[in-house]
This record gives sequence, C-alpha cells and structure tokens, in this order.
Amino acid sequence: MRIPWPPLHPGEDTDTGDRACSKTVRSIACHHSRVTSKQPGSSGVVRTDVVAAADRLAGVLAPTPLEPSRRLSERVGGQVLLKREDLSPVRSYKVRGAYNVLAQLSETERAAGVVCASAGNHGQGVAFACSALDVHGRVYVPRTTPRQKRDRIADLGGDAIEVLVVGDTYDDAAAAALADAGRTGATLVPAFDDARTIAGQGTVTLEIVAQLGQAPDVLVIPVGGGGLLAGTAAWLDGSPLGLQLFGVEPAGAACMAAALAAGGPVALDKVDTFVDGAAVRRAGDITYPLVRDAGAQLVVVENGRLCTEILALYQADGIIVEPAGALAAAALGDAVRPAPGQLTVCVLSGGNNDVSRYAEILERSLVYEGRKHYFLVEFPQEPGALRRFLDDVLGPDDDITLFEYVKRNNRETGPALVGIELGRPDDLDALLGRMRQAPANFERVAADSPLFRFLV
Ligand SMILES: Cc1ncc(COP(=O)(O)O)c(C=O)c1O
Repeated sequence: MRIPWPPLHPGEDTDTGDRACSKTVRSIACHHSRVTSKQPGSSGVVRTDVVAAADRLAGVLAPTPLEPSRRLSERVGGQVLLKREDLSPVRSYKVRGAYNVLAQLSETERAAGVVCASAGNHGQGVAFACSALDVHGRVYVPRTTPRQKRDRIADLGGDAIEVLVVGDTYDDAAAAALADAGRTGATLVPAFDDARTIAGQGTVTLEIVAQLGQAPDVLVIPVGGGGLLAGTAAWLDGSPLGLQLFGVEPAGAACMAAALAAGGPVALDKVDTFVDGAAVRRAGDITYPLVRDAGAQLVVVENGRLCTEILALYQADGIIVEPAGALAAAALGDAVRPAPGQLTVCVLSGGNNDVSRYAEILERSLVYEGRKHYFLVEFPQEPGALRRFLDDVLGPDDDITLFEYVKRNNRETGPALVGIELGRPDDLDALLGRMRQAPANFERVAADSPLFRFLV
C-alpha cells in the first residue's frame, strides 16, 4: 500500500495509489467516452482516438501508479504527484503508442510484420506489442543505443522480434527501417509522428485525470518528437480543463520549441545526444500542430540539472529514471514554477537507465552543483612539491578525483591535470585563495573550453 502525502486538496480523498491503480484502463476509457469530441482538426487526432486507444490497452496494461513526491512537493510549495511510467512492463510509456498501432493492423498487414527504428524505448514497446499480438517485428537501433535497452528489446520480443544494429545515429536506424519497409512490405511503426502512436501516448493523460478524478493545475510532460505531448493535446481536444500544460525538452535538443518559434518543424543544426530518449532533430509534422494549438509552454532543462535530478530520484526516492524520464521533474522549481498550493503532475516517462551511465551522470551533476573543478597545475621543479600541494592547498573536505601528468616523459615535475571535488560549492573561493598563495602555477580549466568538454 502506498501512503499518499499530503492530501490532494483539503478534505479530498487522497488515495491515488493502489486503489486508483486497480481501476482498469477500460473503465477509465468508458468514463471518458461520454465526453463529446470535436470533429477531427487538421491533425486528425482527437479525444475519441485517445479513448479508443485506452480501450485497446485495457486488460493488456494496468494503469501505472500516480504517487505523491514529498521532496518535489516541498521544492515547489504545492502537491506534486509523479506518474510512474517507469513502472510499465517496458519501463516507459512508449508501449502505449506502439500497441495502439499494432492492434489496428489488418490481417494482411499482420502477416507482413512490422518494422521500426528506435533509440531504445520505442523498440521495447514494439517488441512487447509484437509478442502480445503475435506479429513479427524488426527493430533497428543505432550503435549508440545502450546495451541495457538492446537486451530489453530482445527479452521482451522473444521469438517475435529481431534486433538489428545499424549506423551511429538514430537517423541511420530510421533510414534502414524505412528501406526495410519499402523492400519487404512490413508496416513501419513510427515512434511519434503517427496518429495512432500519438493517440496511444495520450492515454497517459487520460489515465492521470481518471486517477485524480479531476485535472491537475499543472501538467509537466517530457518532449522528444512530441508524441506524448501531442497525445495529451489530442485528449484535451481544445478544452484545457484549466490546466497549465508544460513540455520539457533537453536544452541540447529543443526541436519543439524551435518548431514553435519558426512556425513549423525545422531541423536543428546540432543535437546533443546525452538525453538519448528525447534527442530528436526535428519535431513531427503531426505532433507540432497539436502542441501548438494546445497552447503548451515549452521549456528546457540543462544536462547538469537533469543529472542532479536523476541522482535525487535515485538516492532520495529510490526511483531509477533515465535522462529523458527525469526531464519533467528536473524542470520543477526552475523553468516550471507552480503557484503555492497548486496540484502538479510530472510524468516520469522512462526508467531504462544503463548502470554504466551513472558515473557520467554523477560527474555532470557535481560540475553543475559547483562541487567539481579541474585545474592544470605546474609544479615547481623540486622534490616534495606534490606533498606540499596536498598539505597546503587542499581543504579538509576536498578530494582529488583525477591526477594525470600531462608530460609523461617527466613524471616528477611536469604539469598535471587535477580534478578536485569539494565538500561544498562554497569551498571554492578558499581553495582558489590557497592556490594563489602556493608556489605552483594553477590554471583553472574553464567550463566552456574544449578540454573541459573532453573531461565531462
Ligand atoms: C523515456 C522517454 N521520455 C520521453 C520521450 C519523448 O518522446 P516523444 O517523442 O513522445 O515526445 C521518449 C522518447 O522515446 C522516451 O523514451
């Protein structure tokens, strides 16, 4: 039994945990099917499509929990609930859209099989759906897809699926999947820019509102190509129910904000792939107008802040999220500031984090928090210089985390690259002061220098 904390609104039923989650998606779908829907707009995805998707998913996927977060609630001064899509059978919401596509294939299409490109999570959704519906599928992933995600795709799909590793980027995998579909007649299952995928993803928001019995004041959703946000927009269908809708993109891959600014999808010149689940170059042609018309506010989160949030979710809350999965929570209190007392829901969209990524996540978080710094240190050409550096320059809570002689031909006296982790960010001024007093020459490695980017 999960203990909700604190009450949703004074005097209200607070059980958003087990009881809400024991409802089937079908009952939620039936409840919402009474809501009248507008005629399809230019996007062609409307509320009834989302309701129909929820109906297809009923009995296949149990609703994911909606849980209070004491830590995030305290951060914003109002109640924050987390929609735990990381707890779905594929550890992300992507299965909703994939299943909704496969469940609508004709007999002939089923016999020809399906194909998709994926950075990892969509492939798991397709693999789950292939196995559940007994359809054969080929999943193309780039070499950059973490091993953990590749293994999970293969496990979830079993005999129904083949995993093919192609090229270095998602675009390479997408081209291979498209060529495969053209060659074999298999149906391509798009990761976001497809009306059926979008309708499936929209069931996340349908479920949130059904679990709460009301719309939250603020809904915060991560954005890659915009499938989840567009699905939410389709379900809202022009009636925002008084909620403020936020889409959160990685600062290095903000393709939806770029589309809104340009008046249509545009390709970003550069895409930072750190947030692998949401590193998309160009927003979708179908997702974009839905997001635009819903009046969603697009914000970004820097990688460092994201890493700090991933660690807080892990250390304080015991929740494993991948970078894309932490986008919404990381924006809280920063780019997204609910008014005091407002009820906020953040979608934790995915939990497929390869354990080998934690070292980099920790490093980026320490740098962001101002606790990790790098220096080039030129020691004087005399014995004992290194010992004096340790004794005189380092403070009691400072640690050396990296020490590399740059000139390897003179290990005793050459310049060294030194990484120092401080006990507290405020300790930096004192450290710099002691460095200025010391006989060694110090040069701080600037955060925007090529060397720093190589290190972190
Ligand atoms: C965990 C996770 N969060 C967010 C996203 C963003 O997806 P969308 O294209 O629906 O905006 C993805 C996409 O794969 C994802 O895997």
